[in-house]
Amino acid sequence: HYYVAIMAGGIGSRFWPYSRTDLPKQFLDMLNTGKTLLQWTYERFLTLIPAENIFVVTHEQYADLVAQQLPVLPAENIVAEPSRKNTAPCVAYISHKIHKLDPKASIICAPADHLILDPVAFVNSCLIGLQFVENHSALVTLGIQPTRPDTGYGYIQFETQQVADNVYPVKTFTEKPSLDIARTFLESGDFLWNAGIFVWQSKTILAALKKYLPEVDELFVAEEEALNTPQEQNVIEMIYAQCTNISIDYGIMEKADNVYVIPSNFGWSDLGTWASAYDNLEKDYLGNAVQGKNVMVIDATNSMVKAPHDKLVLLQGLDDFIIIDTPDVLLICKKDKEQQIKEYVAEVKRHK
Ligand code: GDD
Ligand code: MG
Repeated sequence: HYYVAIMAGGIGSRFWPYSRTDLPKQFLDMLNTGKTLLQWTYERFLTLIPAENIFVVTHEQYADLVAQQLPVLPAENIVAEPSRKNTAPCVAYISHKIHKLDPKASIICAPADHLILDPVAFVNSCLIGLQFVENHSALVTLGIQPTRPDTGYGYIQFETQQVADNVYPVKTFTEKPSLDIARTFLESGDFLWNAGIFVWQSKTILAALKKYLPEVDELFVAEEEALNTPQEQNVIEMIYAQCTNISIDYGIMEKADNVYVIPSNFGWSDLGTWASAYDNLEKDYLGNAVQGKNVMVIDATNSMVKAPHDKLVLLQGLDDFIIIDTPDVLLICKKDKEQQIKEYVAEVKRHK
């Protein structure tokens, strides 16, 4: 009864201009490892869950890419969404679909684009979650010890008393706090980052959707009969056209009262922004991470340069910058403004 839903429909806009709408970061080998982030994610789950129970939910634009990158994934396990409505509709869709196949299902919902250095510890945390949800109607998430006041994450405050081996009730869940609040959370020492990797029974997440996002849930309930049939695609078109755009974190995790966390340590990084990539790359003694054979650095410090082209790039005097060169776009951005790249991209699109 164990299932995995890999959420792979995001556009990775904070990794612009390397990650683009037509080839987002989950389909890229961000750190030159020989495999894409999606491929690593899939392989990690294959050690725990049978291939026929692993689903990849993505925008229909990427369905072919998923098939190419994961040739062993059965075609019917690629679940295509007709539009981008963020993670709550994605979770609602796949949960209704799996629940109809198997009402006793337990599901791990996980992002496609994370870096995990210790896959054995990762699988172990997943197993603790799967075992716990078997006899608790719990929404379980994996928690990571925070290291900086990152405003791109969810923050979890938890009770000190565990209810099962390494499982703690969650007191508060705060998605993407302001910098001030993130700093307070970090300094208090009581908070974990939400890794965005969730474990629950299908019936538990469906009950939460019904309670907290009824307008989303009802759309799927009304068309349940069509799921897993040839009519599915048509009804999904219709449902998505009407569906609210909201993440599972804002929509459910901040509100639910049956959230639990498993504090985990498996060398996790969201690889969500250039700074997180910078943290995971090798740096010279001045703190520069340089990728590209034609880059000259003079008196620059703590900067990241990715310029893998023939063009010579000469960098002088910059501190704490991100410089990303692609054939058609050059980005030069102060590292502490990287969360705003998402907004800059929206601005670029408006002017095009
Ligand atoms: N299928 C599908 N459809 N997948 C999506 C969609 C969608 O509309 N939108 C996003 N995804 C996928 C992304 O590709 C990614 O793998 C995952 O869902 C999470 O989405 P992100 O957009 O990367 O979320 P985030 O990083 O801002 O925040 C989440 O992850 C953080 C940890 O990395 C939250 O869960 C935070 O609380 C958490 O700290
Ligand atoms: Mg992310």
